[in-house]
Amino acid sequence: MKCVLVTGGAGFLGSHLCDRLIQSGNHVICLDNFFTGTKDNIQHLMGDSHFELEEREIIWPYIKNVDEIYNLACPASPVHYQYDPVKTINTSVLGAINMLELAKGAGAKILQASTSEVYGDPVIHPQTEDYWGNVNPIGVRSCYDEGKRCAETLCMDYHRQMGVIVKIIRIFNTYGPRMAQNDGRVVSNFIVNALLGKDIEIYGDGTQTRSFQYVDDLIEGMIRVMNTEDEFTGPVNLGNPGEFTMLELANLVLELTGSKSDIVFSTLPKDDPRKRKPNITLAKTKLDWEPTIPLREGLLKTIDYFRSIL
Ligand SMILES: NC(=O)c1ccc[n+]([C@@H]2O[C@H](COP(=O)([O-])OP(=O)(O)OC[C@H]3O[C@@H](n4cnc5c(N)ncnc54)[C@H](O)[C@@H]3O)[C@@H](O)[C@H]2O)c1
Repeated sequence: MKCVLVTGGAGFLGSHLCDRLIQSGNHVICLDNFFTGTKDNIQHLMGDSHFELEEREIIWPYIKNVDEIYNLACPASPVHYQYDPVKTINTSVLGAINMLELAKGAGAKILQASTSEVYGDPVIHPQTEDYWGNVNPIGVRSCYDEGKRCAETLCMDYHRQMGVIVKIIRIFNTYGPRMAQNDGRVVSNFIVNALLGKDIEIYGDGTQTRSFQYVDDLIEGMIRVMNTEDEFTGPVNLGNPGEFTMLELANLVLELTGSKSDIVFSTLPKDDPRKRKPNITLAKTKLDWEPTIPLREGLLKTIDYFRSIL
C-alpha cells in the first residue's frame, strides 16, 4: 500500500483526489490549513483508517515518510488569492520548497499542480506546453501567476540538481461538486444565481469563450501523470479544449436548473483574459487521456451539488 500526501486535500480538487486515491487502495494524508478548503469536503473520509488529516501550514517544513506527493495547496480563484497576495506567494514558493525537500528526503515522487495562468494573457492559441507565456510580473494577478511559475522552476531545479522525481501539470479551468460557492467563478456564479432566482450577470456581450473541464476528467489525468516513467517531468496541459460562449453557458444553466432568472449584461473587467484554450496533444499521446464528460452532464452533477448545499 502506498502512502500518498495530498496538500490542499480539503479543497475542491484535492478532496476529489483524496476520494480517488482511497478508492484505489492507498493510505492518504491530507495536509490543509482550511483557508479555502472545508471539513465538509472530507467529512465522509474522516472515519476511514486509511485517511489522515494534518491540519497545518504548507509554508512550514514538514517531514514524513511518504511515497507520493500531490502538491495542490494554494488558493485558486482571484478573490481568494488576492485576499493576501504575499501569503499566496509564500504558499506557492515556500510550499513548493518544503514539499520538494520532503520528496528529496523521503525519496518520493512529487506532482506539482500548476496552472494555465502561467501562460498569462497568451498571444498564442491554443497554448502548447512549450509556450513561455505572457505574464505581467507586477499586476494584481502576479502573486498567483508568478508564484506558480516559480514553483515550476523549483521543481525543475530540484529534478536537475538533486534527482528528485517531479511531474508538472498545468490545469485549465475546472468545475464540479465542492467548488466554493463564493469563489467568483463563472460556473458557480451562474448556477448559484440561477438556483436562487437572482439575475445571471454576463460581462461584456457574452460572446467571449471559455473552456471547462469536469473534475473527474482532471483527476484521471493527474493519476496518469503520476504513473508515468520517472524521467517524464512534463509540464503537461490538462484541460478541456471545447469552447463555449458565456451566453451559451448561461442559457444551458437556465435550462438545466429550470430557473426563471434573467440574464443581464455588464461591463467587461479590465484584467479578464481574452481567451485561453489548451492544446492537449501531449496528454493524448503520452497519457492516452482526453476529457470524456460533456458540459451538460458535468453541469447537472454540479447543479445537484449546489442544490444540496444551498
Ligand atoms: N480549480 C481550477 O480550475 C484550477 C485551475 C488551475 C490550477 N488549479 C490548482 O489546483 C490546486 C487546487 O485548486 P482548487 O480549485 O481545489 O482550490 P481550493 O482553494 O479549493 O483548494 C486549495 C486548498 O489549499 C489549501 N491551502 C491554501 N493555502 C494553504 C496553506 N498555506 N497551507 C496549507 N493549505 C493551504 C486550502 O485550504 C484549500 O483546501 C491549486 O494549487 C490551484 O492553483 C486549480
